[in-house]
Formats: sequence, C-alpha cells, structure tokens
Amino acid sequence: MSSYHTVRPIRGSLRASVRVPSDKSIAHRTALLAAWAEGPSELVGFPRSRDPQSTLSCLSALGVPVEFSEPDRVRIRGVGLRGFRLRGQLLDCGNSGTTMRLLCGMLVGQRGSVTLDGDASLRRRPMERVAEPLRCMGGRIETQDGCPPVRIQGAGRLCGATFRLPIPSAQVKSAILLAGLLAEGETVVFEASRTRDHTERLLGLEPVLTPEGWRIAVQGGRLRPQAGRYEIPGDPSAAAFWAAAAALVPGSEVELRDVGLNPTRTAFLELLRRMGAEVEAHVERWIGREPVGRIRVRACGLRAVQIGGSEVPALIDELPVIAVLAAMADGESRITGASELRLKESDRIRAMTEGLRRLGARVEELPDGWAFEGPIRMRGGRVSAYQDHRVAMALAVAGLLAEGETIIEGAEWVEVSYPGFWETLERLSASAVP
Ligand code: S3P
Repeated sequence: MSSYHTVRPIRGSLRASVRVPSDKSIAHRTALLAAWAEGPSELVGFPRSRDPQSTLSCLSALGVPVEFSEPDRVRIRGVGLRGFRLRGQLLDCGNSGTTMRLLCGMLVGQRGSVTLDGDASLRRRPMERVAEPLRCMGGRIETQDGCPPVRIQGAGRLCGATFRLPIPSAQVKSAILLAGLLAEGETVVFEASRTRDHTERLLGLEPVLTPEGWRIAVQGGRLRPQAGRYEIPGDPSAAAFWAAAAALVPGSEVELRDVGLNPTRTAFLELLRRMGAEVEAHVERWIGREPVGRIRVRACGLRAVQIGGSEVPALIDELPVIAVLAAMADGESRITGASELRLKESDRIRAMTEGLRRLGARVEELPDGWAFEGPIRMRGGRVSAYQDHRVAMALAVAGLLAEGETIIEGAEWVEVSYPGFWETLERLSASAVP
C-alpha cells in the first residue's frame, strides 16, 4: 500500500549532526564475499534497508547460514567458492539491481540451476549488460527480452576473458570480476571512467591506469575471500541528501559522521564546492581499505553548474538531488550524458522533471539529462516518488525549501536505502534555528 509524507517548509537554519545508514554498496559486497569465504564472518553496522536485506535472503535461499545477532549485526557462515546450493530455486532480489547483477557473476560458475527475479521495477531493468560478458566467459545465462527473470544453468566451468565496459557500471564490473574468481586464467576489465571500487578494495585488487583506461585483473583459482569481521561505514549517497539540504537552506551547518569517503564516491562533495557551498571532509579512520570520516557542509548562495561526460558515473546516484540544487542555483545549469538515469529504479530524468516542475522549477527534459533556469522559489505541491527511493528523498529536500506543503506520494520507498529518513527529516526540521 502506498503512503505519503508531508514535508513542511523549514523555518530557520539546519544545525545538526547526522549518522546516515550504512553503505548499501559495501553491505551487499561484504555479505556476498563473506558467503564465499570459508568460515564465520561478522558484519557490523549492517543496514536495515531493503536492498541489502534482499541480498541476505538470497544468500539464505542458496543455503548460506545467515543470522542476526543484533539488529545491525549479521553472522554469515561462509560456504566457500563452490558451496552454494543451486536446485532450480527462485531468488527474489526485490528492488535491488546490485543483488541481481553481482549474484549473476557469482552463480554463473556454479553447478546447478537457479532463477533470479525481482519486483516490477527490477523487471524493467537491463540485464544483458551483465549476461552477455558472462556468456563470453562460458556461462549459461538467459534473460527474458533483456530483463529479469534471469535463468542460470550453471556451466561449472568458466574461462577468463578481457572486457572493455561500453557503459561505465560498477555492478557489471563487479559481476565480471566475481565470475573471474571461478574462471580459468585471467579475467580483465578495462573501464574508461572510474566507477565505485568497493569490490576491488575488498578483494585486494590493484587497478592500474593504462592508455586504455583503468585495468582491473583477477586470476582465477588464486583468490579466496577472507572470513572475518567487517564493519560498514555510513553511505555517502545517503549523506548527499542532508549535504544538499545544508547547502540550500540559508544559514545552515550540518555535520555527517562516520561516512565512507572512498574517492570513487565523493565527487558530490567536489560538486557542492563548485556550486559555492563550503564543504569540509576529513578522513578519521580506515575500515579495511575504505577511508571513513566526517563531512561538514555550510550553506552559501549556490551558482549554476555544468555537468557532463566522464563526470557522470561518479555522481550517478546523487543526480536526483543534484537536479534539486541545479533548479535552485543562480543561473543556467545543464546536466548531460546521464541517459543511464532512465534505467535506474525509475526513469529518474522523467521523474525529477515532473516532480520539480510541479514544485515550480524551470526545467527542460533532455534525452540525457536536464537544463535548468534558476534561481526559483519552490512552491509546495503533490508529487510522486515514482516508486524510487532516491526520487522520494530528493523531492523531500526540495520540499524543505518550498513555500507551502509538499506531499510525497510513495513515501515508503525510502526504505529501500534509508529507513528512518522521514524521522531524521522531522528531527532536523524541529531543531531548525530561527
Ligand atoms: C552500484 C552501482 C551503480 C549505482 C547503484 C549501486 C553498486 O549502478 O547506481 O546504486 O553498488 O555497484 P551501475 O553499476 O548500474 O552504474
């Protein structure tokens, strides 16, 4: 059942310190690699959000013992690289593209058969981008007209191969590298634009910059994921909503604690600086090979921005909230080269165009992005989340700046990556300093 949330305009400035939920991308990967290790692992700070929970339930369905010792602590007893049980079962990946694509890479080299499926949104997302390279490695994997359900008839035997990613995608890169662990010989991925590198960091792989782009290689049969204790830092893509709110609401200062500061995830902070906000980020500690620290954002009048080309992959999840910033910034902003946004949990270009227009933005929908004419004063209105967590949260940030009330329909979608989002929003509004 769909629910809605009413966002009221903020009265005063935001002054707050927030710990956002743990990183979804890292949570998926630590759970998957713990399942492939031999022996027990403990995942500390595991997020309650729906996507990583989908990964855990798929692992259980593959015969991996998974249990919660505390609400945010998961114990996984790894079954080894070839220990999954594939017996023709159906794995429900829910709304989670990362679960489905990474699991394709892990399952294609196993014996047995399995089907991966998901909700209506996931069923619309392209899966050939992962199935095709896995077939080149010898995998027997079929999609339905390019989309889920995905059927895997384990080949049992994969051969390493070299791939140049036509579309920058951390999910596709990770699926290939994971399959490479089970393949004979070397598997190599070249990526022209850097995408998030959590898989490489967790596996201890060292990307090398070559004239053809970043080269990431894995030798089949040599690498074994290690069991152990894994802590999961705060999610920088969740932090982006409060960072954006802090940059927009005059007089604000917001601190975000214990956030992952992996350089493949912090392009958004650079962008905020480029738009004129004051941003500090300090690495305070390391969790394995992931830097973690504190971000502080202070409001400033924002100026228009041009974003395109190779910058886009590093900002891909933040673009819905960047659209909000661009709508309100002073001048003409243009965001291009982002047609991938149409293939996310919703068509995010269409969803944000319609939502922001309803709130009074001057926005033109482009095939691969948007053009904005700012600044504008948002007005309240009724908008849809388009069954997309990031659209819901981006429009909520816009609502804080609107003149009247903003009703977000489909408010429950925030659960996909940020349970507690609405409570935090209420807390920040209630503590605003006049
Ligand atoms: C993710 C990669 C990105 C991102 C998604 C999470 C990951 O998707 O949008 O939210 O954890 O690897 P693509 O690989 O499709 O760009």
